[in-house]
Amino acid sequence: MKIWIAGAAGQLGCALNDMAKEHRPDAELLNTDIDEVDVTDLSQVLGFVKEHQPDVIFDCAAVTDVGVCEDSPKYAFKVNAVGARNLAIAASRIQAKILLLSTDDVFNGIRQVPYHEFDETDPMTVYGKSKLAGENYVKEFAHDHFIIRSNWVFGRGSRTNFVNQILDAIETKTELHISDDQYGSPTSANALAVFMLHLIGSEEYGTYHVTCSGVCNRYEFAKEIVRLAKKDVKIIPVRTKKAEYCSARPTFTVLDNFLIQVLGLHEMPTWIDALEEYMKQEYKR
Ligand SMILES: NC(=O)c1ccc[n+]([C@@H]2O[C@H](COP(=O)([O-])OP(=O)(O)OC[C@H]3O[C@@H](n4cnc5c(N)ncnc54)[C@H](OP(=O)(O)O)[C@@H]3O)[C@@H](O)[C@H]2O)c1
Repeated sequence: MKIWIAGAAGQLGCALNDMAKEHRPDAELLNTDIDEVDVTDLSQVLGFVKEHQPDVIFDCAAVTDVGVCEDSPKYAFKVNAVGARNLAIAASRIQAKILLLSTDDVFNGIRQVPYHEFDETDPMTVYGKSKLAGENYVKEFAHDHFIIRSNWVFGRGSRTNFVNQILDAIETKTELHISDDQYGSPTSANALAVFMLHLIGSEEYGTYHVTCSGVCNRYEFAKEIVRLAKKDVKIIPVRTKKAEYCSARPTFTVLDNFLIQVLGLHEMPTWIDALEEYMKQEYKR
């Protein structure tokens, strides 16, 4: 099986490469990031699939910084929406499967109950709106598609995910102010990649919510990181407005992995186990 990973230098791209060795040893991985194929350029995308004929396309290319998206909506929609459209058109042209990664930000986060796949979307941020537009393009242009929405992803390939930001901060600071009113399910890129590699072998097309199990706020998440790092750093709970290391976004966008449970497709690890595993592998200070 030939798999094209667009946006391969990011967290999910790295995790897919790491996990494929064990979970899809038969796969030939074609890795590109913006320097090789800019997903916003339809002719580059079509040229790539014509030459390489992948069986599966992973769309991991995105602008994920919520602040950058708010400041530059044209850029956010160009990459997150038009980029997804281009990859979907390409997948359809060569009858490949496509898997798009999406986000909890497609929900407004107003209610205090986890969202499942059949709940109404209502994004409040430019990031969420642009990702939802990408989802809609994929549904419109690619018949054989999977859409996976996830939440608070951490993995190698980014120094700016929450875990790595806290690990960097505690090297020099003795006190951190962390939001206690943003709730989510921290999810390891590796655990997510394992499921993605499994799913593409099936024809269980559609939209899935996939996060590690368990829910916490950012303050609890930071406390666990500091505990595992064995550092003596004080974590002070504050409201998002006064918090470090998190952007303004919906406060409760916990995802319910409803459909993978209904279909008995997969079980995700708890976020605490996944974090411990990540710290063992990556925290070499
Ligand atoms: N991180 C999370 O918490 C989270 C949660 C839910 C869903 N997701 C979704 O999961 C996917 C992957 O996320 P991630 O955490 O792996 O993101 P990431 O680490 O930011 O990786 C995204 C990659 O896409 C590249 N890229 C940007 N514009 C591109 C373009 N025009 N053409 C080709 N590549 C381009 C980026 O390059 P540069 O770095 O040079 O821009 C980066 O290497 C995204 O769709 C994201 O929306 C992420």
